[in-house]
Amino acid sequence: MACHDGQCPPLRCNWALGMTLVLLVGAMSSLRGQPSRAPDAYTTQQSGRGSSTTGSAVRLSLQGCEPYGDAVQSAVDSAHPPYLNQAQLLWIAAALQGRGAAAAGGGGTRFLVFGLGYDSQVWVAANCGGETIFLEDSAVWIHNVTTSYPNIKALLVSYRGRLNDTAKFFASPWLMEVPESVGKACWENILVDAPMGYKPYHPGRMESTYYAVHTARRCIAAGEVADVIIFLHDVQRPVESKLIARYLAAPDIVRLGVIKGRNGNLAAFRVVRPL
Ligand SMILES: *[C@@H]1O[C@H](CO)[C@@H](O)[C@H](O)[C@H]1NC(C)=O
Ligand SMILES: *[C@@H]1O[C@H](CO)[C@@H](O)[C@H](O)[C@H]1NC(C)=O
Repeated sequence: MACHDGQCPPLRCNWALGMTLVLLVGAMSSLRGQPSRAPDAYTTQQSGRGSSTTGSAVRLSLQGCEPYGDAVQSAVDSAHPPYLNQAQLLWIAAALQGRGAAAAGGGGTRFLVFGLGYDSQVWVAANCGGETIFLEDSAVWIHNVTTSYPNIKALLVSYRGRLNDTAKFFASPWLMEVPESVGKACWENILVDAPMGYKPYHPGRMESTYYAVHTARRCIAAGEVADVIIFLHDVQRPVESKLIARYLAAPDIVRLGVIKGRNGNLAAFRVVRPL
């Protein structure tokens, strides 16, 4: 959950500042032993050595936003650090800025995030100039966070699934309802870090993960995006593992790797145009 008591740094998008692109490099552990790849345009920087999950950082200078490394550091150092650890935050942030810089005009990317949390301000900073939309199932929480941070765009969704009855979803998966503006939109990047999924009465990540894959394929087929990076958090859990096996193990989806974390492992996938 996010910056509800003023602990988080203010959100800024200062185009006058030179942007420093911090690239997460170094080794990342991989899913099923496949070599990991950084999910952005700057993969050549990756060393691929060893099995460390922390990685090191390299800086590139680009024109644009404030350095997102500062936003990551502030979030990690705050009284309410995000569940994603520093290496995981940097991995996503590097992908956002790498892809945003590579986009026509360097204008940022379209980023859909399931879950409003202590990491939200990092995504707005890292995707400075782009569009970041959060989908959240707690209206109270949306009100709380957007009161403090009016530049965070969060929309309410609801989930029908329950963790104590995943069989129902896997037997006959359904596409969750999203606000119309989101349903029509396309995204270069999607982070699935919600809804909650560790108590029997929690919704679990079935609907959000399934929706992410579906909308990625829809936008690729429509020619709206060339590819879509999907980040999925907590992939060490049984339901997330099953979701990967069911919906993210396909010929048009490339596994990019995983970064482990004490509060959950983060995996990335690239959905591409089918051959
Ligand atoms: C947000 O929630 C926190 C408690 O988690 C509370 O202290 C704060 O006053 C709330 N802010 C708003 C604007 O509702
Ligand atoms: C799941 O938990 C809810 C209560 O949270 C309960 O109403 C429902 O019957 C449970 N479903 C199964 C399949 O156990």
